[in-house]
Amino acid sequence: MKIDLSTQRILITGASRGIGRAIAEQLSEAGAELLLHCKSNLDAAEELSKKLPSSSHVVNCDLSKLSEVEGWLPELVHTYGYINGIINNAGIAIHSPLDTQTHAWVMDWQRTLNVNLNAAAILCKEFVACCDPKKGGRIINISSRAAHKGNLLPYMAYAASKAGLIAITKSLARHLGKLHIKAFTVAPGFVNTDMADAFRSHYGEEHISSDIALDRLTEPGDIAPLVTLLCSGLADHATGSTFDLNAGSYLR
Ligand SMILES: NC(=O)c1ccc[n+]([C@@H]2O[C@H](COP(=O)([O-])OP(=O)(O)OC[C@H]3O[C@@H](n4cnc5c(N)ncnc54)[C@H](OP(=O)(O)O)[C@@H]3O)[C@@H](O)[C@H]2O)c1
Repeated sequence: MKIDLSTQRILITGASRGIGRAIAEQLSEAGAELLLHCKSNLDAAEELSKKLPSSSHVVNCDLSKLSEVEGWLPELVHTYGYINGIINNAGIAIHSPLDTQTHAWVMDWQRTLNVNLNAAAILCKEFVACCDPKKGGRIINISSRAAHKGNLLPYMAYAASKAGLIAITKSLARHLGKLHIKAFTVAPGFVNTDMADAFRSHYGEEHISSDIALDRLTEPGDIAPLVTLLCSGLADHATGSTFDLNAGSYLR
């Protein structure tokens, strides 16, 4: 089976490192034109852009600032042309224990929800508004095993934001399929990236390894092939579904 995405322009948020970067590498190999989003790691994103085999553009937005997010997607469409797919991948996990002073805890909660859920919701909303029903489009939201399993208490906001993403995906999928918009959720478990360092230092690598069914930890490159398949349209009849990619660590 050969996947050819050369007619597609796709936005990947958080493409500067980790899972987003691996997705960018695969989608580019399949020929997609990419909008590589990052917040502060512009150098890493530019370096990635130069290395990719297909055309790509680095785009910047602080997703914690919703005023920056509002109107950003239509601007991208105006600058680069029709966007066929968006991958809401950027995310943060803030350690915020329940005994943190309430005001600071609320700030952490809001920042987490803004980046992981609210910004993604705005991007989905504006993507739908920009969509031409003749061309359609695909939305892929990167959630987490934590949406189903819950998380350590200091990461409760993270789990809540990722559960919200699943609800958004299902709502969009159920009501926009006839406008040729499909939506999917991918829910990884532990993946070896910068974000996972905090979990690794809390649990220890041995615990994480013993928690999974496979013989090695999930790498960003293990997430990318499924996302590529979802972008291709070959799995459109799974619209609304959540795909668990957690190395057998949590089976629903
Ligand atoms: N790693 C895991 O174990 C794991 C497990 C389940 C789900 N996930 C999910 O997978 C996705 C990618 O995770 P990852 O592990 O690859 O993360 P990562 O290595 O920490 O990378 C995070 C990405 O998000 C961007 N980002 C962070 N804050 C931002 C903000 N305020 N505005 C815009 N962009 C921002 C970063 O951009 P800059 O580089 O410019 O800062 C970076 O590209 C996340 O949604 C995460 O929740 C990860």
